Amino acid sequence: TLTAGPTREAIDPVRFISNHSSGKMAYALAAEAVQAGAQVTLISGPVNLTAPDRVELVKVTTAQEMLDASLAAVTDTDVFIGVAAVADYRVSESSDHKIKKTAETLQLTLVRNPDIIGTVAALPERPFVVGFAAETRDVVEYGRDKLKRKGLDLLFANDATATFNSDSIAATAIWSAGNSEDHQELGPANKHLVARQMLMLIRQRLDANKPETAQ
Ligand code: C5P
Repeated sequence: TLTAGPTREAIDPVRFISNHSSGKMAYALAAEAVQAGAQVTLISGPVNLTAPDRVELVKVTTAQEMLDASLAAVTDTDVFIGVAAVADYRVSESSDHKIKKTAETLQLTLVRNPDIIGTVAALPERPFVVGFAAETRDVVEYGRDKLKRKGLDLLFANDATATFNSDSIAATAIWSAGNSEDHQELGPANKHLVARQMLMLIRQRLDANKPETAQ
């Protein structure tokens, strides 16, 4: 299961808060995972992309919808990859009607959205959880912190401004190894090529995590 794209949080019926996520990385990962033989559910916010063949596409708009769809999907999934750039905040009460421009200033009250990947990682019967960290500075340092704080198994940290809407990506894979962390550089390369490297790494970490007695 993967989450993809931005989420969109309504201000009123014609306006919303969102971000520049294109969904390209998640769609590339979904396509490559299907090629590798996986059964893929792609929970996608609004993007201008066509879902790859043989992918089960679940279209959502808001973070809350993405959370609901994710919780429904993970009961039956081995790997959850949170690629979506989920809006951190939503408008506390969106207006039922278009807000008129009468006032000189306008205040919106924003409330925190649920943390989708954190919620999935905290489930008692959880899949292997993979996160992304789009940062604009101190990419690896923030990535390490995020891995721990959200309880993830593997994290791909990348530079947000260089990656959003781009066809290529450079990322640092970070995972915990005993009491410390290990990391590996991926790319810079086309998102499909990097997606294959990411899936290979997920496979390696999954195998490394298996108890020795397991077949
Ligand atoms: O904390 P930050 O938003 O940078 O974390 C990024 C990671 O967390 C990504 O994997 C993203 O998909 C996930 N995320 C989430 N729900 C949120 C915010 C981020 O699943 N509300």
